[in-house]
Amino acid sequence: MNLVLRREGAVVFYTPDVEKYGSIYSAPVFYNPAMEKNRTLSVLLLKTYGEKGLVVCEPLSGTGVRGIRYAVESGVVGKLILNDISKEAVELIKKNLEINGVDAEVYNEDANALLHKLKDSCDVVDIDPFGSPAPFIHGAFRALKEEGLICATATDTAVLVGRYPRKCLRRYGSVIVKTPFYIEIGLRNLLGYIARVAAAEDYKITPLMSYWEGHYFRVCAYAARGARDADDNFHHIAYIKYERGVRKILHAQSEGSSGPLWVGPLGDPLIINKMSEIGPYQDFLKILAEEYSISAPWFYRLPEFAAGGKSPTLKEAVGVLRAAGIYAVKTHMAPDGFKADGEYGEVLMAFKRYISSAHSLQ
Ligand SMILES: C[S@@+](CC[C@H](N)C(=O)[O-])C[C@H]1O[C@@H](n2cnc3c(N)ncnc32)[C@H](O)[C@@H]1O
Repeated sequence: MNLVLRREGAVVFYTPDVEKYGSIYSAPVFYNPAMEKNRTLSVLLLKTYGEKGLVVCEPLSGTGVRGIRYAVESGVVGKLILNDISKEAVELIKKNLEINGVDAEVYNEDANALLHKLKDSCDVVDIDPFGSPAPFIHGAFRALKEEGLICATATDTAVLVGRYPRKCLRRYGSVIVKTPFYIEIGLRNLLGYIARVAAAEDYKITPLMSYWEGHYFRVCAYAARGARDADDNFHHIAYIKYERGVRKILHAQSEGSSGPLWVGPLGDPLIINKMSEIGPYQDFLKILAEEYSISAPWFYRLPEFAAGGKSPTLKEAVGVLRAAGIYAVKTHMAPDGFKADGEYGEVLMAFKRYISSAHSLQ
């Protein structure tokens, strides 16, 4: 293999030389530098979440960089379990462990076979596959102890937002219709799936961090075993209907609704604020923490409130709404999007009043 040495966070590691292989997708072992933020935020979450001595399993390891970063940077990993179905990946993982002086159990198995063998033994399971994590979620819960952290990355964003309806139904068991806030629908679609699988495995989930970044969705949730508590997952599963601006939560599927979706909290603002105190991506984390404090499972977009071809800027919009007594914050999910503790009609009225008072002052 033609290798190059790279650095990410506090580790150095070998990856295939993309110059020699043409692209990250044709290289013999997969490493995507565009996932650095995903890995860094996960390090911060582990640091914030963790007691020491955690058993962490990353069953789709690639070069091993993610797990090695968790071990070196989080300070909470007691035992690291890495795995990949590719022999070349496993060789590279071993090499990368060695140059970082990190110990790990390394396997060369199908991720699901390994997760089922690891039954009840992990504190953290991180599923970071190509495309959809859905085929590995049952296995991830099997491998978890009585309680733990389950993390999943999904790069099949087009499927999750409903652009491929049949695939979405197959992978996630959901039906998604078009809305202006389709990114949040995609994120809630993934969480809804994880919550339903969790329930099937008798776990209740509490999302700690969920977000979107252009080419992927990321979800990390605390999970605790218990049949009765697992029933609670369904308090947060529902359908969302969107019609001419108006958004509604429905408790059963109906014509034109999207779901089943997770309509509960996307994350824990306290944990996210703590993460922002100790690491990079502070501005992004601050936006997440603010968003998580608004319970509505959707956001609005400025063009929805355009009058005479004009719409307020995001800053103006948030200011106008707050002055009108409607708490509003910007969302990380769209540059023209904001979340608000108010219904579409209330938000529209607040903007209309603002526009007419601005005119009367001229
Ligand atoms: C997206 S890459 C992992 C990237 C890595 N987690 C990181 O952060 O750099 C997915 C990896 O899963 C491996 N893989 C695919 N199917 C698998 C399976 N069924 N069991 C185990 N590994 C698998 C691939 O060989 C690939 O290395």
